[in-house]
Amino acid sequence: MASAAASAHIQATPTLCAAAKPPLQMHSEHPQRKRVLFVTSEFADLIKCGGLGDVSAALPRALSPQHDIRLLIPGYRQVVESGRPIRIVGQLPGLAALPPCQIGRMDLADGLIVYVLLNPALYERNGSPYVDDQGRDWADNHIRFARLGLAAAEIATGDAGIQWRPELVHANDWPAAMAPAYMAWRQASTPSLLTIHNLAYQGLCDMRCASELAIPESACGVDGLEFYGQLSFLKAGIAYAQHVTTVSRRYAREITTPEQGCGLDGLLRAKVQIDQLSGIANGIDESWHPESDPHLLQGFSAGDWAGKRANAAYVQQWLGLDDDGPLFAVVSRLVQQKGIDLTLQVAEHIVARGGRIGVIGQGEPALEAVMAELGRRHPGRIGVHIGFDESDARRLYAGSDFLLMPSRFEPCGLSQMYAQRYASLPIARCTGGLADTIEDGVNGFLFDAPRADAYRQAIDRALQVFDHPELLEAMRCQAMSAPLYWHQSVQPYDRLFQRLLSQATAYRALR
Ligand code: ADP
Ligand code: GLC
Repeated sequence: MASAAASAHIQATPTLCAAAKPPLQMHSEHPQRKRVLFVTSEFADLIKCGGLGDVSAALPRALSPQHDIRLLIPGYRQVVESGRPIRIVGQLPGLAALPPCQIGRMDLADGLIVYVLLNPALYERNGSPYVDDQGRDWADNHIRFARLGLAAAEIATGDAGIQWRPELVHANDWPAAMAPAYMAWRQASTPSLLTIHNLAYQGLCDMRCASELAIPESACGVDGLEFYGQLSFLKAGIAYAQHVTTVSRRYAREITTPEQGCGLDGLLRAKVQIDQLSGIANGIDESWHPESDPHLLQGFSAGDWAGKRANAAYVQQWLGLDDDGPLFAVVSRLVQQKGIDLTLQVAEHIVARGGRIGVIGQGEPALEAVMAELGRRHPGRIGVHIGFDESDARRLYAGSDFLLMPSRFEPCGLSQMYAQRYASLPIARCTGGLADTIEDGVNGFLFDAPRADAYRQAIDRALQVFDHPELLEAMRCQAMSAPLYWHQSVQPYDRLFQRLLSQATAYRALR
């Protein structure tokens, strides 16, 4: 196994090792300014598989004027080979089957500090953070992401040797959800917050892995991590974090119901009872600006659509589409959640009504294959690109007239907001964050039942609007001003941080 320090761009500094525990009060210039460790498995500057990557890049930056917020991410190949220098600042010992690691520090140009968990054997692989080149989950994902959670706990308790100690740990989704649990088992006095971006991914592993992960036996029951005979990382986070948020208000309610609770609704309802579950909506970051986005072929603004047409012309050529008819976009992970099967059922209808469909996405191999086949059956009318590229995705949002997003569930959804900002009207199911961010007939179209007939009716309404230029213009203008930038989320997060910290102080005083 290559040592982490031997990897490209990583420099070891001789000043680390058995450093004394840093005092809890260091570096807070202002009493309200708190030190927060944001733990995540994606970070769009370096690697993303979906919206979690976008949020992890945007939310810490939006909060950084108020707080000293730093990230902890795994040292995937895309991270250590990004060309950004990484300085080794900490060492972590092994525990059970969780191997020793180093902590590197990456200072980004805008001042954001990213701690990188380094262990080449665990993280430096070809493939995505979660799956190999064939789309199979990495067999040791439980080790890889338990290690991430444990590292966060070690940083929180001052046992990582880095000269910084958070006052709050903010864990995101199942890959980081063991952090609150390891913190509790280590009696950390630091409070933790878990944000659920998607309840459907829970990080399940065999109950027999408990000893490999150093999970105490007492935590393996139904009141702990046990979930229908397996261990659930997400359940660990929900059980041990002092507070749980999700990424829209409506999804926060939906996950307390048996229909959308993925088997965890009882536990989540109990969290509501004690005021420990709430929804804080995602925003979009300021790079999503149609006039200045450098990814676009040409910028545009409301009422001046020449730039929109230039992006449409690019997309047309790139996807081999004819140059007539409304353009419907799909920019999506190709997974069951996104209702791709419903889009397959309405695609012929769109083509029959003179529309074109442009698709960019990747995901489950079976859905990729049927999508690609759909494109082959309709040359010139449906163009499919399997894969993902940020510039092409942005040009498709900008060049399209409508975005298809018939999600079966949607915790928040960023794609519909990106589309709105770029004057592409979303046609979406009325669920989760889609219901919270789209006003039917004003800045997009909503339909209720997850069925092709309901979807088709919404598409027909959109086509009627397309045929009335003054209506289309009005809806585009409404859509462009609808999505909120991250500023709107700063205050609710800020209030929550302050609340968790004052509760923790009160609790410490009682002990
Ligand atoms: P989700 O996180 O469930 O995929 P969101 O709407 O919150 O849905 O976020 C989608 C974000 O991910 C957008 O930035 C979109 O352009 C991007 N995206 C879509 N498909 C992919 C993909 N296959 N790989 C990487 N990013 C993708
Ligand atoms: C998840 C959800 C999506 C949400 C994103 C960022 O991937 O599926 O709805 O917008 O996380 O929070």
